Order: sequence, then C-alpha cells, then structure tokens
Amino acid sequence: MTTILVTGGAGYIGSHAVLALQRRGYEVIVLDNLVYGHRDIAEKVLKVELVVGDISDRSLLDDLFATRNIAAVMHFSAYAYVGESVSDPAKYYRNNVVGTLTLLEAMAAASVQKFVFSSTCATYGMPETIPIPENHPQNPINPYGATKLMVEQILKDFEAAYGLKSVSFRYFNAAGADPTGLIGEDHHPETHLIPLILLAALGKRDSISIFGTDYPTRDGTCIRDYIHVTDIAQAHVLGLEYLLQGGETEIFNLGNGNGFSVREMIATAQAVTGREIPVALGDRRPGDPPSLVGSSEKARKSLGWHPQYSDLSQIVSHAWQWHQQRHE
Ligand SMILES: NC(=O)c1ccc[n+]([C@@H]2O[C@H](COP(=O)([O-])OP(=O)(O)OC[C@H]3O[C@@H](n4cnc5c(N)ncnc54)[C@H](O)[C@@H]3O)[C@@H](O)[C@H]2O)c1
Repeated sequence: MTTILVTGGAGYIGSHAVLALQRRGYEVIVLDNLVYGHRDIAEKVLKVELVVGDISDRSLLDDLFATRNIAAVMHFSAYAYVGESVSDPAKYYRNNVVGTLTLLEAMAAASVQKFVFSSTCATYGMPETIPIPENHPQNPINPYGATKLMVEQILKDFEAAYGLKSVSFRYFNAAGADPTGLIGEDHHPETHLIPLILLAALGKRDSISIFGTDYPTRDGTCIRDYIHVTDIAQAHVLGLEYLLQGGETEIFNLGNGNGFSVREMIATAQAVTGREIPVALGDRRPGDPPSLVGSSEKARKSLGWHPQYSDLSQIVSHAWQWHQQRHE
C-alpha cells in the first residue's frame, strides 16, 4: 500500500482529503498539532493514524520519514485567518513559511520528492480579470496570501535544486461537507460565510452580517466562488496520482467557475433550511474585492477533474446536514 503523509489532516479540508485517500486505498498518516484540528474526527470517525506534532519539529519529521515508507506529502497545515495575518504577521510567516520550509527540508533530506500544496486565491490580490486564470498577476494584499505565494516560490526553487515535484492548488472558497454526513466544517473561530449563515439559522448566532451592499455587482453584495470540499479532495487525489505517475510541477486553480453573491447565499440557505435567517447590514470591509471567481479549466483539462457538486443548493444542503448533527 502507498503511504501518504497528510499534514493538517485533522482540519476541515485535510480531513476530507484523508477520506478521499482512504476510499481510494491509500495508507494515510496524519500529522497535526491539533491547534485547530479535531482529534475525534481523525481518531474516531476517520480511524486514521494521527501523529500529534508540529511541522516545525524537524526531529519528528526526520523520524517519520526514516521509519515510514512515505511516498508523498499533502500539506494542508497552515494558519488561514486573513485578519489575524494582518495584525500578527510574524505568527503567519513562522507557521506557513518557516514551518513549511522545515517540512520541505526534511523531505529533501529523506528524498521524498512529491508534494501537494494548499495554496489560495489570496495570492492573486485584487483581480484584474474575472474569471481569474492561473497566469493572472500575483499581488497578495495581506500577509496570509503572501505566505502562500512565498511557498509557491520555494517550491519552484526546490524543484530546480533538489528535484522536488509539486502540485499547488489555489483554492477559492472551500464549502460544504462530505455528502454522507460523516465529516464537515468546524472552525473555531468560524469566519466562513456558509457556516456563519447556518449557525444563524440554528440560532447559535444572532444574525449574519453583510459587509457592504453598494458593490458594483448584480445585487450590491460581494460575489465569491464556492467550491465543494469533496471536489477539492478529489482534485488532491488526482494531483497526487499525477505526481506519482511522474508528472511535472504544476499549479491549478480549484473553483466552481460560478460566483454567488452574499444575498444569493443567504436566500439559498433559507430555502435549504426552511428557516428565517436574520441579517445585519454593515459597512464594506477594507480589502474585500467586489468579485472573486476563478477559472478551473486547467485542472479539468490536465487532471481530468470533474467537480461533482457545483450546484449551490447541494453545497449548502451538505453543509446543513453536517451542521445540524454537529450543533443541534
Ligand atoms: N478553507 C478555505 O476556504 C481555504 C481556501 C484556500 C486555501 N485554504 C488552505 O487550505 C488549508 C486547510 O484549510 P482548512 O480550512 O482546512 O483549515 P483548518 O484550520 O481546518 O486546517 C488546518 C489544520 O492544520 C493544523 N495545523 C496548523 N498549523 C500546524 C502546524 N504547525 N503543525 C501541524 N499542524 C498544524 C491545524 O490544527 C488544522 O487541523 C490551509 O493551508 C489553508 O490556507 C483554505
């Protein structure tokens, strides 16, 4: 059996990738320091081997690579709160860049040469064209996006110097939950729109805030691209297998290709849940572009990726199924 090390595999997207890998017959080891990950999901639900530890722990990494026959690494662990990255950039550069560098150095030393990386649409900054293609200029407007762009640069240099092959996926907004209801999204604190809307539907929050209603969009609210987490996980398996079959370093967007406004998201959630969702109107937030929608044609063509759950109602209903069982 081929063994894959999944960092951050006890978190939201990582746990869905673990499930996709298990379903495809891989042996999986999760490395997660549980700062945001969920032990119960890893151990009780996924029943995956969980190593509780940090990607910056070089001796732990050396030991893992020396004793386990790890064919490739999928790297999800990072801090990902944009606002916090502005107020505490050191924390972000240390974990997302220095931590990843430590991981990559340990891989290079152990000759583990395949790496799948969670990058982000935040590396693009303010979009010049919509939908955003992979060759769009990258000018991140916050330290979070900058940390991911730095790792992309490190990966280019590691390929040239050490032959490490990587696939980087720039996700747009990950959303939804495993369609069987096994696992889902549970961030603390939660900042993502769909769970916030559903927590308001469940009465766990007073209301959902709309930041800005005067954007140049079809209904004045921001438009974003929501991609089902199971489709992201599937793309990771395809990216991994592309590398295992000798593929060259590549970068792919992962998005839905369709943008939805905040008001459309709330209306969909009201229809799916059958509940009234209280709304609070607020001012625009600095740094929020009116529209962020990606083109994922490259992943479709090169990897044969076919997202199965592009329909917004389906994304929201899978998230709703999960939130009801987790929070009610
Ligand atoms: N959620 C999104 O919409 C989105 C969009 C674009 C990119 N991403 C990227 O995808 C990845 C996963 O995001 P997520 O939403 O699942 O976040 P998450 O917080 O649920 O998962 C991250 C996991 O990494 C672990 N972790 C953090 N630092 C670690 C360290 N130093 N050592 C070991 N484990 C560590 C956390 O405990 C957590 O389990 C991140 O790299 C994020 O930047 C997410």
